[in-house]
Amino acid sequence: TTVSDLLSTKPRGDDGFKVQVDGWVRNVRKSSAVRFVDVSDGSCSAPLQAIVQRDLAKDIQFGAAVRLKGTWKTRDTQSGGQAEAAKPPELQVDEVEILGHSTAATYPIQRKYATPESLRGIPHLRMRTPLNSAMLRLRSDALGVLNQFFSEEKFQQTHPPIITASDCEGAGETFRVEAGTAKDPFSESEQYLTVSSQLHLEAFAQALGNVWTLSPTFRAERSDTSRHLSEFYMLEAELSFVEDMEEILDFIQRMLGGLVRGLSQRDAWKELDDFRTNPRDPTARQTMADLDSRDTLERRWDGLLSPDKWPRITYTEAIDVLQGKVGEFEHAPEWGKGLQSEHERYLAKTIGFDRANNAYVPVFVTQYPQAVKAFYMRQAAENPPQGLVFDCFDLIVPDWGELAGGSMREHRHDALLANMDRLLGREAPALDWYMDLRRWGCPPHGGFGIGFDRLLSYLTGVKSIRDIAAFPRLYGHIQC
Ligand code: 4AD
Ligand code: MG
Repeated sequence: TTVSDLLSTKPRGDDGFKVQVDGWVRNVRKSSAVRFVDVSDGSCSAPLQAIVQRDLAKDIQFGAAVRLKGTWKTRDTQSGGQAEAAKPPELQVDEVEILGHSTAATYPIQRKYATPESLRGIPHLRMRTPLNSAMLRLRSDALGVLNQFFSEEKFQQTHPPIITASDCEGAGETFRVEAGTAKDPFSESEQYLTVSSQLHLEAFAQALGNVWTLSPTFRAERSDTSRHLSEFYMLEAELSFVEDMEEILDFIQRMLGGLVRGLSQRDAWKELDDFRTNPRDPTARQTMADLDSRDTLERRWDGLLSPDKWPRITYTEAIDVLQGKVGEFEHAPEWGKGLQSEHERYLAKTIGFDRANNAYVPVFVTQYPQAVKAFYMRQAAENPPQGLVFDCFDLIVPDWGELAGGSMREHRHDALLANMDRLLGREAPALDWYMDLRRWGCPPHGGFGIGFDRLLSYLTGVKSIRDIAAFPRLYGHIQC
């Protein structure tokens, strides 16, 4: 039995029933005759309370792994009255087995508030704390919800390669894979860790139709911020036989709305909410990541669940808006340059604000100049006077800026070659196989990628991506 199952099982009558529980000691409180031991097994945030006679409890220390056998019983209500009776039942223990010893005095996790920064120094242990383990359960729930969503939408889940021969985004942020020795190299050609599964996903899409993946991606990006990791999971989907980018934007809205709806039915979501509403209760939170307020989150969730189409604005329109507010920015907005994070956040806060519902709705910025985007995108049919643009988009939200990026793919062989000549010139990588996809039966298609760690941070209000990734890989240094 898991603790989660037990806590939702009320024993009938006064006698209770026999159970065995395996878990970790989260707290020990002493009274003269007995020890009150909180035990948790990772299945939920709430511990179960075990009552252990003093002589049985001598090796029970904070952090130990234990097997307890005893009786699951309704609480004795004589002392506490009604409030006590409302609490979950408790375990009257008659047998204790220590399966893994702990020494509370040296255990780096202590039963008091610890800052997110100090916990980041021990990622291998911090996941044992209630809040962090709830975030990991929520991540697992999200995988379940997404699997179901995509399967209902008739998308096939695929496993694109992690080691690749190309740099999909062309930003020069690849990790090179080296193996063997200089004399005896493992590979004749350069190999990299993938920065995006997209190119390979396009190949899958031309065999299977609509496809998706949630895969690790790697970027040697010199960005030391609360939004960047050098290893992160990207949710990518590719839609075949799609001509109008609107279909992709609508799909993303349906997917994210479905994710919020699905997650909000799950226990981990409710647990995270409890941590938020008891911000200073150290027994509940014990150790913390910085969390956004419930208010902020409700506005985000309402926006994600909005029944209306999320706003679309072209890059050129966005630049106009931003240039009307130049004084607000560190970097002056300029047509032909990428949007800075401060620009994205401003647009998200203003254009994305739904006054009637007091909600923040994500915003699609579309049709970026070709110079700031990647070679594989489809040339737009109509272009502004300032220059050529692609049929592409970024999805932006308050506080985080860019959450997703995507585009129509250039499916015409010659137009793609022209893109590569224009944008990559001599540096054009060997992408014969990718050109092959355009040689035989390439329909119009497009897709998107969404940073899964960023998405979870945004949904849960965890302010730093370093607290949502269990083992954050960062520019310059990693722990463990
Ligand atoms: O915008 P990006 O670079 O798009 C692509 O790689 C496309 N090939 C995806 C596609 O169309 N299939 O990355 C997509 C998303 C970003 O919007 C951002 O959310 C996330 O990936 N991302 C990062 N997340 C965490 N740390 C980083 N260093 C990230 N870089 C990008
Ligand atoms: Mg992008």
